[in-house]
Amino acid sequence: TAERSLVLVKPDGVARGLVGQVVARLEAKGLRLVAAELRTLTVEVAEEHYGEHRERPFFGSLVEFITSGPLLALVVEGPRAIEAFRALAGATDPVKAAPGTIRGDFALEVQNNIVHGSDSPESAAREIALFFPGLG
Ligand code: CMP
Repeated sequence: TAERSLVLVKPDGVARGLVGQVVARLEAKGLRLVAAELRTLTVEVAEEHYGEHRERPFFGSLVEFITSGPLLALVVEGPRAIEAFRALAGATDPVKAAPGTIRGDFALEVQNNIVHGSDSPESAAREIALFFPGLG
């Protein structure tokens, strides 16, 4: 009954040296690493990844941010991995995210919110295929 989720440590998290703390938290929770790669996204991949936000006023800024430097793309696996990681991440708006969560502990701004986690099994399948097309 293992489920997989795509997790990103976004360019702000990498630049601030938070990769280790994010990975430590998800490993401590019991999520297993299935794939990991540090890479800088092209605008094309970024627009595809965030396609559901294309009509939002912040879309251009979001694409600029997410392509601004290297990010760490991870696939994690475990029971209810999608919900489990979203609980670790906390609310999208870091000011509303509970202390003890990744965003609650490390971020202040909604765009620069350190991590991304897939929000449904359908998004996870789409995002994992986009980032790691070779993954079985
Ligand atoms: P994420 O969980 O990756 O999903 C979409 C991203 O868009 C979100 O995290 C934020 O980085 C960003 N985002 C969401 N809402 C806003 C907003 N109101 N203004 C700017 N960026 C946002």
